[in-house]
Amino acid sequence: MTIRQLTISDLRNLTSVSIKPSSEINIFYGLNGSGKTSILEAIHILGLARSFRTPKVKSVVQTGKDKYTIFGLMKDLHRQIPVGVSRSIHEDSIQIRISGNAIRSSAELAALLPLQIINPDTFKLLEGSPGLRRNFLDWGVFHVKHKDFLPVWKHMQMALKQRNSLIRHGRISGSELSIWTQAFSKYACQVDQLRQAYVEQLLPYFSKVLQELCKLDGIKINYYRGWDKDRDLDEVLEAGLSRDIQSGYTFYGPQRADLRVRIGNSNATEILSRGQLKLVVCALKLAQGYLLSEATDQKSIFLVDDLSSELDIPHRMALCHLLQKIESQVFITCVEKNALADCWLPETHYKMFHVKQGQVELVENPGRAGRQAKSLEIEHD
Ligand SMILES: Nc1ncnc2c1ncn2[C@@H]1O[C@H](COP(=O)(O)OP(=O)(O)OP(=O)(O)O)[C@@H](O)[C@H]1O
Ligand SMILES: [Mg+2]
Repeated sequence: MTIRQLTISDLRNLTSVSIKPSSEINIFYGLNGSGKTSILEAIHILGLARSFRTPKVKSVVQTGKDKYTIFGLMKDLHRQIPVGVSRSIHEDSIQIRISGNAIRSSAELAALLPLQIINPDTFKLLEGSPGLRRNFLDWGVFHVKHKDFLPVWKHMQMALKQRNSLIRHGRISGSELSIWTQAFSKYACQVDQLRQAYVEQLLPYFSKVLQELCKLDGIKINYYRGWDKDRDLDEVLEAGLSRDIQSGYTFYGPQRADLRVRIGNSNATEILSRGQLKLVVCALKLAQGYLLSEATDQKSIFLVDDLSSELDIPHRMALCHLLQKIESQVFITCVEKNALADCWLPETHYKMFHVKQGQVELVENPGRAGRQAKSLEIEHD
Protein backbone atom coordinates (compact mmCIF):
# COMPACT_ATOMS: atom_id res chain seq x y z
CA MET A 1 0.00 0.00 0.00
CA THR A 2 1.12 3.54 -0.64
CA ILE A 3 -0.34 6.81 0.58
CA ARG A 4 -1.79 8.59 -2.45
CA GLN A 5 -3.51 11.42 -0.67
CA LEU A 6 -2.65 12.99 2.65
CA THR A 7 -4.58 15.65 4.52
CA ILE A 8 -3.41 17.07 7.84
CA SER A 9 -5.37 19.52 10.02
CA ASP A 10 -4.30 21.35 13.15
CA LEU A 11 -1.21 19.29 13.88
CA ARG A 12 1.64 21.47 15.23
CA ASN A 13 2.07 24.34 12.72
CA LEU A 14 0.23 22.44 9.94
CA THR A 15 -3.21 24.07 9.96
CA SER A 16 -4.46 22.67 6.70
CA VAL A 17 -2.23 20.64 4.40
CA SER A 18 -3.37 18.52 1.50
CA ILE A 19 -0.97 16.76 -0.86
CA LYS A 20 -0.89 13.91 -3.37
CA PRO A 21 2.39 12.12 -2.71
CA SER A 22 4.31 10.14 -5.29
CA SER A 23 4.14 6.39 -4.80
CA GLU A 24 7.95 6.45 -4.76
CA ILE A 25 10.14 9.33 -3.58
CA ASN A 26 8.78 12.45 -1.84
CA ILE A 27 11.12 15.20 -0.71
CA PHE A 28 10.11 17.97 1.67
CA TYR A 29 12.53 20.84 2.00
CA GLY A 30 12.29 24.08 3.92
CA LEU A 31 13.79 26.21 6.63
CA ASN A 32 14.15 25.19 10.25
CA GLY A 33 10.80 25.16 12.00
CA SER A 34 8.81 25.18 8.74
CA GLY A 35 6.96 21.91 9.51
CA LYS A 36 8.90 19.13 7.71
CA THR A 37 9.27 16.76 10.65
CA SER A 38 5.64 17.46 11.57
CA ILE A 39 4.58 16.01 8.20
CA LEU A 40 6.50 12.80 8.95
CA GLU A 41 5.04 12.84 12.47
CA ALA A 42 1.53 13.01 10.95
CA ILE A 43 2.27 10.01 8.68
CA HIS A 44 3.67 8.12 11.67
CA ILE A 45 0.47 8.80 13.63
CA LEU A 46 -1.57 7.69 10.61
CA GLY A 47 0.33 4.36 10.57
CA LEU A 48 0.90 3.67 14.25
CA ALA A 49 -1.56 5.86 16.15
CA ARG A 50 1.29 7.54 18.03
CA SER A 51 3.88 10.23 17.54
CA PHE A 52 7.60 9.41 17.40
CA ARG A 53 8.35 12.68 19.21
CA THR A 54 6.15 12.71 22.28
CA PRO A 55 3.39 10.84 24.08
CA LYS A 56 1.80 14.21 25.02
CA VAL A 57 -1.19 14.90 22.79
CA LYS A 58 -1.27 18.56 23.81
CA SER A 59 2.14 19.13 22.24
CA VAL A 60 1.00 17.67 18.93
CA VAL A 61 -2.38 19.40 18.63
CA GLN A 62 -1.94 22.93 17.31
CA THR A 63 -1.87 25.52 20.08
CA GLY A 64 -5.35 26.94 20.58
CA LYS A 65 -7.07 24.00 18.80
CA ASP A 66 -8.92 21.05 20.34
CA LYS A 67 -7.86 18.21 18.06
CA TYR A 68 -5.78 17.19 15.11
CA THR A 69 -7.07 15.13 12.17
CA ILE A 70 -5.09 13.16 9.61
CA PHE A 71 -6.59 11.51 6.59
CA GLY A 72 -4.83 9.19 4.17
CA LEU A 73 -5.99 7.42 1.06
CA MET A 74 -4.06 4.14 0.74
CA LYS A 75 -3.87 2.39 -2.58
CA ASP A 76 -2.40 -0.69 -4.12
CA LEU A 77 -3.17 -2.43 -7.40
CA HIS A 78 -6.38 -3.96 -6.09
CA ARG A 79 -7.64 -1.81 -3.27
CA GLN A 80 -8.26 1.72 -2.16
CA ILE A 81 -8.59 2.21 1.61
CA PRO A 82 -9.41 5.53 3.29
CA VAL A 83 -7.92 5.86 6.76
CA GLY A 84 -8.60 8.65 9.23
CA VAL A 85 -7.20 9.31 12.68
CA SER A 86 -8.00 12.14 15.03
CA ARG A 87 -7.11 12.94 18.60
CA SER A 88 -8.73 15.46 20.88
CA ILE A 89 -6.99 17.01 23.88
CA HIS A 90 -10.18 16.27 25.86
CA GLU A 91 -10.23 12.49 25.18
CA ASP A 92 -8.01 9.68 26.42
CA SER A 93 -7.81 7.74 23.18
CA ILE A 94 -7.24 8.26 19.52
CA GLN A 95 -10.13 7.79 17.06
CA ILE A 96 -9.28 5.53 14.14
CA ARG A 97 -11.42 4.83 11.10
CA ILE A 98 -10.51 2.41 8.33
CA SER A 99 -12.85 2.40 5.31
CA GLY A 100 -15.40 4.27 7.41
CA ASN A 101 -15.38 1.73 10.28
CA ALA A 102 -14.27 2.70 13.77
CA ILE A 103 -11.28 0.58 14.83
CA ARG A 104 -10.15 0.01 18.40
CA SER A 105 -6.79 -1.66 17.95
CA SER A 106 -3.85 0.20 16.45
CA ALA A 107 -2.45 -3.19 15.30
CA GLU A 108 -4.89 -3.04 12.37
CA LEU A 109 -3.43 0.28 11.32
CA ALA A 110 0.10 -1.00 11.74
CA ALA A 111 -0.65 -4.04 9.60
CA LEU A 112 -1.90 -1.76 6.82
CA LEU A 113 1.06 0.63 6.81
CA PRO A 114 4.42 -0.90 7.72
CA LEU A 115 6.35 2.25 8.60
CA GLN A 116 10.10 2.51 9.09
CA ILE A 117 11.59 5.68 10.48
CA ILE A 118 15.15 6.86 9.97
CA ASN A 119 15.93 10.12 11.77
CA PRO A 120 18.80 11.84 13.57
CA ASP A 121 17.99 9.74 16.66
CA THR A 122 18.35 6.56 14.67
CA PHE A 123 21.70 5.56 16.18
CA LYS A 124 19.87 5.12 19.50
CA LEU A 125 18.73 1.77 18.15
CA LEU A 126 22.30 0.60 18.79
CA GLU A 127 23.20 2.82 21.74
CA GLY A 128 19.92 2.66 23.62
CA SER A 129 18.29 0.01 25.77
CA PRO A 130 17.61 -3.56 24.55
CA GLY A 131 13.88 -2.66 24.55
CA LEU A 132 14.45 -0.54 21.42
CA ARG A 133 16.07 -3.47 19.63
CA ARG A 134 13.30 -5.83 20.73
CA ASN A 135 10.76 -3.39 19.26
CA PHE A 136 12.77 -3.32 16.05
CA LEU A 137 12.88 -7.12 15.94
CA ASP A 138 9.21 -7.52 16.80
CA TRP A 139 8.25 -5.00 14.11
CA GLY A 140 9.78 -7.37 11.59
CA VAL A 141 8.30 -10.55 13.05
CA PHE A 142 4.88 -8.86 13.34
CA HIS A 143 4.82 -7.80 9.70
CA VAL A 144 6.28 -10.99 8.27
CA LYS A 145 4.51 -13.45 10.58
CA HIS A 146 1.58 -11.29 11.56
CA LYS A 147 -1.01 -13.98 12.19
CA ASP A 148 1.30 -16.26 14.19
CA PHE A 149 3.16 -13.67 16.19
CA LEU A 150 0.63 -11.27 17.65
CA PRO A 151 -1.54 -13.81 19.58
CA VAL A 152 1.49 -15.69 20.89
CA TRP A 153 3.19 -12.46 21.96
CA LYS A 154 0.03 -11.29 23.74
CA HIS A 155 -0.36 -14.64 25.59
CA MET A 156 3.30 -14.47 26.63
CA GLN A 157 2.89 -10.92 27.98
CA MET A 158 -0.25 -11.87 29.86
CA ALA A 159 1.38 -14.94 31.47
CA LEU A 160 4.44 -12.85 32.41
CA LYS A 161 2.24 -10.20 34.01
CA GLN A 162 0.35 -12.81 36.03
CA ARG A 163 3.54 -14.56 37.14
CA ASN A 164 5.14 -11.26 38.17
CA SER A 165 2.03 -10.28 40.11
CA LEU A 166 1.99 -13.59 42.06
CA ILE A 167 5.71 -13.24 42.83
CA ARG A 168 5.31 -9.63 43.97
CA HIS A 169 2.41 -10.49 46.25
CA GLY A 170 4.21 -13.50 47.76
CA ARG A 171 1.63 -15.98 46.37
CA ILE A 172 4.21 -18.62 45.54
CA SER A 173 3.01 -21.74 47.35
CA GLY A 174 -0.25 -22.60 45.49
CA SER A 175 -0.64 -24.16 42.06
CA GLU A 176 -1.31 -20.78 40.43
CA LEU A 177 2.37 -19.92 40.12
CA SER A 178 3.16 -23.21 38.43
CA ILE A 179 0.22 -22.78 35.99
CA TRP A 180 1.34 -19.30 34.95
CA THR A 181 5.00 -20.33 34.83
CA GLN A 182 4.14 -23.17 32.45
CA ALA A 183 2.02 -20.87 30.29
CA PHE A 184 4.78 -18.26 30.24
CA SER A 185 7.40 -20.82 29.31
CA LYS A 186 5.25 -22.28 26.52
CA TYR A 187 4.52 -18.94 24.82
CA ALA A 188 8.01 -17.59 25.53
CA CYS A 189 9.51 -20.47 23.55
CA GLN A 190 7.13 -19.78 20.65
CA VAL A 191 8.02 -16.07 20.64
CA ASP A 192 11.70 -17.03 20.70
CA GLN A 193 11.34 -19.45 17.77
CA LEU A 194 9.58 -16.81 15.66
CA ARG A 195 12.18 -14.18 16.52
CA GLN A 196 15.06 -16.56 15.86
CA ALA A 197 13.68 -17.61 12.47
CA TYR A 198 13.18 -13.94 11.56
CA VAL A 199 16.76 -12.99 12.49
CA GLU A 200 18.07 -15.86 10.35
CA GLN A 201 16.09 -14.51 7.41
CA LEU A 202 17.13 -10.91 8.06
CA LEU A 203 20.90 -11.28 8.38
CA PRO A 204 21.74 -12.07 4.73
CA TYR A 205 19.74 -8.98 3.66
CA PHE A 206 21.57 -6.92 6.26
CA SER A 207 25.03 -8.00 5.02
CA LYS A 208 24.11 -7.23 1.41
CA VAL A 209 22.64 -3.80 2.18
CA LEU A 210 25.54 -2.86 4.45
CA GLN A 211 28.02 -3.73 1.71
CA GLU A 212 26.24 -1.40 -0.69
CA LEU A 213 25.94 1.36 1.88
CA CYS A 214 29.44 1.51 3.35
CA LYS A 215 32.67 -0.38 3.76
CA LEU A 216 32.54 -1.77 7.27
CA ASP A 217 34.14 -5.12 7.84
CA GLY A 218 33.68 -7.51 10.68
CA ILE A 219 30.21 -6.48 11.88
CA LYS A 220 28.39 -9.34 13.53
CA ILE A 221 24.84 -9.42 14.83
CA ASN A 222 23.96 -11.98 17.46
CA TYR A 223 20.48 -12.69 18.71
CA TYR A 224 20.27 -13.25 22.47
CA ARG A 225 16.99 -14.89 23.32
CA GLY A 226 16.82 -13.75 26.94
CA TRP A 227 18.12 -16.87 28.64
CA ASP A 228 20.97 -19.40 28.27
CA LYS A 229 20.91 -20.88 24.78
CA ASP A 230 21.81 -24.36 26.10
CA ARG A 231 19.12 -24.63 28.78
CA ASP A 232 15.34 -25.01 28.73
CA LEU A 233 13.42 -22.01 29.99
CA ASP A 234 11.47 -24.25 32.46
CA GLU A 235 14.73 -25.26 34.07
CA VAL A 236 16.06 -21.68 34.10
CA LEU A 237 12.84 -20.38 35.70
CA GLU A 238 12.89 -23.06 38.37
CA ALA A 239 16.54 -22.46 39.21
CA GLY A 240 15.99 -18.69 39.30
CA LEU A 241 12.81 -18.64 41.40
CA SER A 242 14.41 -17.34 44.59
CA ARG A 243 16.13 -14.55 42.64
CA ASP A 244 12.79 -13.67 40.96
CA ILE A 245 11.10 -13.56 44.39
CA GLN A 246 13.82 -11.32 45.76
CA SER A 247 13.66 -8.87 42.87
CA GLY A 248 9.87 -9.08 42.44
CA TYR A 249 9.85 -9.92 38.72
CA THR A 250 10.78 -12.65 36.25
CA PHE A 251 14.39 -12.15 35.30
CA TYR A 252 14.91 -14.53 32.35
CA GLY A 253 12.75 -14.86 29.26
CA PRO A 254 12.03 -13.16 25.91
CA GLN A 255 11.42 -9.88 27.80
CA ARG A 256 15.25 -9.70 28.04
CA ALA A 257 16.01 -10.61 24.42
CA ASP A 258 18.43 -8.44 22.48
CA LEU A 259 20.19 -8.04 19.17
CA ARG A 260 23.88 -7.53 19.88
CA VAL A 261 25.82 -5.69 17.22
CA ARG A 262 29.55 -6.28 17.58
CA ILE A 263 32.83 -5.69 15.82
CA GLY A 264 35.37 -8.29 16.90
CA ASN A 265 35.02 -8.48 20.68
CA SER A 266 33.61 -4.99 21.17
CA ASN A 267 30.17 -3.46 21.00
CA ALA A 268 29.77 -1.61 17.69
CA THR A 269 28.78 1.51 19.66
CA GLU A 270 32.25 1.64 21.25
CA ILE A 271 34.04 1.57 17.91
CA LEU A 272 31.91 3.24 15.25
CA SER A 273 31.51 6.96 14.52
CA ARG A 274 28.10 8.65 14.63
CA GLY A 275 27.76 8.51 10.84
CA GLN A 276 28.80 4.85 10.75
CA LEU A 277 26.28 4.00 13.47
CA LYS A 278 23.59 5.72 11.44
CA LEU A 279 24.59 3.71 8.36
CA VAL A 280 24.44 0.43 10.27
CA VAL A 281 20.95 1.28 11.56
CA CYS A 282 19.88 2.32 8.04
CA ALA A 283 21.17 -1.03 6.77
CA LEU A 284 19.13 -2.85 9.43
CA LYS A 285 15.96 -0.95 8.54
CA LEU A 286 16.45 -1.27 4.80
CA ALA A 287 17.12 -4.98 5.27
CA GLN A 288 13.75 -5.26 7.03
CA GLY A 289 12.16 -3.46 4.07
CA TYR A 290 13.72 -5.85 1.54
CA LEU A 291 12.78 -8.90 3.58
CA LEU A 292 9.21 -7.67 4.03
CA SER A 293 8.71 -7.14 0.31
CA GLU A 294 10.16 -10.56 -0.54
CA ALA A 295 8.40 -12.52 2.18
CA THR A 296 4.97 -10.87 1.86
CA ASP A 297 3.04 -8.83 -0.70
CA GLN A 298 3.61 -5.69 1.41
CA LYS A 299 6.18 -2.94 1.23
CA SER A 300 7.50 -0.69 3.97
CA ILE A 301 6.96 3.04 3.83
CA PHE A 302 10.15 4.86 4.80
CA LEU A 303 10.12 8.15 6.71
CA VAL A 304 13.59 9.68 6.53
CA ASP A 305 13.93 12.84 8.59
CA ASP A 306 16.88 15.09 7.82
CA LEU A 307 18.55 12.57 5.52
CA SER A 308 21.69 14.67 5.13
CA SER A 309 22.51 14.88 8.83
CA GLU A 310 25.69 12.97 9.78
CA LEU A 311 26.12 11.62 6.22
CA ASP A 312 28.65 12.80 3.65
CA ILE A 313 27.70 13.06 -0.03
CA PRO A 314 28.82 9.55 -1.15
CA HIS A 315 26.90 7.93 1.74
CA ARG A 316 23.80 10.08 1.10
CA MET A 317 23.89 8.92 -2.50
CA ALA A 318 24.34 5.28 -1.51
CA LEU A 319 21.38 5.54 0.87
CA CYS A 320 19.20 7.23 -1.77
CA HIS A 321 20.10 4.56 -4.33
CA LEU A 322 19.06 1.82 -1.93
CA LEU A 323 15.82 3.63 -1.12
CA GLN A 324 15.07 3.72 -4.86
CA LYS A 325 16.02 0.08 -5.41
CA ILE A 326 13.67 -1.07 -2.69
CA GLU A 327 10.77 0.49 -4.65
CA SER A 328 8.98 1.58 -1.49
CA GLN A 329 7.21 4.83 -0.90
CA VAL A 330 9.66 7.21 0.77
CA PHE A 331 9.11 10.54 2.54
CA ILE A 332 12.35 12.46 3.01
CA THR A 333 13.03 15.82 4.64
CA CYS A 334 16.02 18.08 4.18
CA VAL A 335 16.74 21.75 4.71
CA GLU A 336 18.34 22.65 1.37
CA LYS A 337 16.43 22.22 -1.87
CA ASN A 338 19.47 20.81 -3.66
CA ALA A 339 20.85 18.64 -0.83
CA LEU A 340 19.82 15.48 -2.70
CA ALA A 341 19.79 16.89 -6.23
CA ASP A 342 21.95 14.23 -7.89
CA CYS A 343 20.77 11.25 -5.91
CA TRP A 344 17.94 10.04 -8.15
CA LEU A 345 17.79 7.78 -11.17
CA PRO A 346 16.00 9.31 -14.19
CA GLU A 347 13.19 6.76 -14.07
CA THR A 348 12.39 7.39 -10.40
CA HIS A 349 8.96 8.85 -9.59
CA TYR A 350 10.02 11.84 -7.61
CA LYS A 351 8.02 14.71 -6.16
CA MET A 352 9.39 17.68 -4.32
CA PHE A 353 7.47 19.84 -1.86
CA HIS A 354 8.46 23.17 -0.43
CA VAL A 355 7.42 23.59 3.21
CA LYS A 356 7.02 27.22 4.30
CA GLN A 357 5.60 28.19 7.68
CA GLY A 358 3.23 25.23 7.79
CA GLN A 359 2.17 25.49 4.13
CA VAL A 360 3.20 22.79 1.66
CA GLU A 361 3.55 23.48 -2.07
CA LEU A 362 4.39 21.06 -4.86
CA VAL A 363 7.50 22.27 -6.68
CA GLU A 364 6.60 22.26 -10.38
CA ASN A 365 10.11 22.06 -11.86
CA PRO A 366 12.35 20.58 -9.20
CA GLY A 367 15.20 19.63 -11.56
CA ARG A 368 16.22 17.12 -14.20
CA ALA A 369 15.00 13.96 -12.48
CA GLY A 370 12.00 15.70 -11.00
CA ARG A 371 10.72 16.99 -14.37
CA GLN A 372 10.81 13.55 -15.88
CA ALA A 373 9.20 12.04 -12.81
CA LYS A 374 6.35 14.51 -12.84
CA SER A 375 5.25 13.49 -16.31
CA LEU A 376 5.44 9.82 -15.30
CA GLU A 377 3.46 10.61 -12.20
CA ILE A 378 0.64 12.20 -14.18
CA GLU A 379 0.32 9.04 -16.31
CA HIS A 380 -0.04 7.05 -13.10
CA ASP A 381 -2.66 9.17 -11.32
N1 LIG B 1 1.53 22.40 19.26
C1 LIG B 1 2.03 23.27 18.39
N2 LIG B 1 1.24 24.24 17.87
C2 LIG B 1 1.70 25.12 16.95
N3 LIG B 1 2.97 25.10 16.50
C3 LIG B 1 3.80 24.14 16.98
C4 LIG B 1 3.38 23.19 17.95
N4 LIG B 1 4.42 22.38 18.23
C5 LIG B 1 5.45 22.81 17.49
N5 LIG B 1 5.09 23.88 16.74
C6 LIG B 1 5.91 24.61 15.76
O1 LIG B 1 5.78 23.89 14.54
C7 LIG B 1 6.92 24.11 13.74
C8 LIG B 1 7.26 22.83 13.05
O2 LIG B 1 8.32 22.14 13.61
P1 LIG B 1 9.07 20.97 12.80
O3 LIG B 1 9.83 20.25 13.84
O4 LIG B 1 8.11 20.22 11.98
O5 LIG B 1 10.04 21.81 11.85
P2 LIG B 1 11.11 21.32 10.79
O6 LIG B 1 10.73 21.91 9.48
O7 LIG B 1 11.27 19.85 10.86
O8 LIG B 1 12.41 22.06 11.32
P3 LIG B 1 13.96 21.58 11.39
O9 LIG B 1 14.55 21.83 10.03
O10 LIG B 1 14.53 22.53 12.41
O11 LIG B 1 14.00 20.16 11.81
C9 LIG B 1 7.96 24.75 14.62
O12 LIG B 1 8.06 26.09 14.24
C10 LIG B 1 7.38 24.64 16.02
O13 LIG B 1 7.73 25.73 16.82
MG1 LIG C 1 12.80 18.66 11.54
